[in-house]
Amino acid sequence: MRDNDRVTRAVGPARAVADIDLWAYAANVRALKRRIGSAQLLCVVKADAYGHGAEQCAATARAAGADWLGVAFVDEALALRAAGDRGPLLAWILNEHDDLAGAIARDVDLSISSMRELELVLDAYHAAGAPPRVHVEVDTGLSRGGVAPGDWDAVFAAVRDIDVVSVWSHLACADEPTHPANDAQRAAFERALAVAASQGVTPRLRHLANSAATLTRPDLHFDLVRVGMASYGVSPMDDNIEQFGLEPVMTVRARIAQVRTVPAGTGVSYGHHYVTDADTRLALVPLGYADGVPRAASNRAPVAIDGARRTIAGTVCMDQFVIDVGATEVEVGDDVVLFGAGGPSAEEWARVCGTIGYELTTRLGVRLARRFHGGV
Ligand SMILES: Cc1ncc(COP(=O)(O)O)c(C=O)c1O
Repeated sequence: MRDNDRVTRAVGPARAVADIDLWAYAANVRALKRRIGSAQLLCVVKADAYGHGAEQCAATARAAGADWLGVAFVDEALALRAAGDRGPLLAWILNEHDDLAGAIARDVDLSISSMRELELVLDAYHAAGAPPRVHVEVDTGLSRGGVAPGDWDAVFAAVRDIDVVSVWSHLACADEPTHPANDAQRAAFERALAVAASQGVTPRLRHLANSAATLTRPDLHFDLVRVGMASYGVSPMDDNIEQFGLEPVMTVRARIAQVRTVPAGTGVSYGHHYVTDADTRLALVPLGYADGVPRAASNRAPVAIDGARRTIAGTVCMDQFVIDVGATEVEVGDDVVLFGAGGPSAEEWARVCGTIGYELTTRLGVRLARRFHGGV
């Protein structure tokens, strides 16, 4: 049964927590599956599931119907396998120091971006005595990873006799759905597929879309979509995620550590960049930039205390920040929601801090405990 208390539950004995609502995550995965029809869903759980807990999110995504999981690094894939994860799992950034043989032995799929990476992967398959299979990333305009267009012919010729599970690419401007780069990348992707076909390579899967394209560009779905941020209920496009039937998974909250009364004209926190304009009360929140609260949130970011909005007063410090609570009745131990259910959204925080939701959730520090609700 779903725990309806979860959004109002206080921090508990900890000074601060990131509540992770695995029911919401599972619901988001199911909603994404419905949205993409017959395409497959790869849930991106790299970077500790964007700060949400890779092990817990991986298990939840599988139970909710994800066809694949994806991570950036081989180490991340091996950590998931060590935690008991089974099922299709793709790692897409290779390094020659990676345990590629270990990954192959644990049935981790590997993507290659160059002839050199192909050689590394094929060597590892041969050493493992396993039939090789690869995913080929092609650069269609991001100019980051992916086989460069000038090398498409050679790389596809080199994988002609092995199992090519997928050919895929990554979009540069998907968060602007009408940006011409999206159509240009689609056209380039189709050219890459044609080159593959001309070399006798027919991938089982073709994929291009991330969260933004999954939500806004069904013409870019192909056979599979790779969804990260949207599955965690944060918009990839600086707008409201609820319009897509998705809900935030993470709520960051803390307990007020101290409340003091100060006169008008009091300078607050480092640099005195906030000065009280009346006699007032200041509440101290024990979270700072070491916990992932951006310093850019100083004097800008909203928080909620019992549903009422306040703005951070003055500079965010390493371990704490201050809120001017005025006449609002607050006490030590009261709950302050930074973002998530029952408070401002991560998108609002991203906007006022000049960043993106991705950076907010992935940069939460190790001191901030994750508290999981629901699951499989
Ligand atoms: C190759 C690749 N695919 C998919 C994603 C997921 O992107 P998003 O979180 O926007 O869905 C990422 C994340 O950066 C990625 O690097």
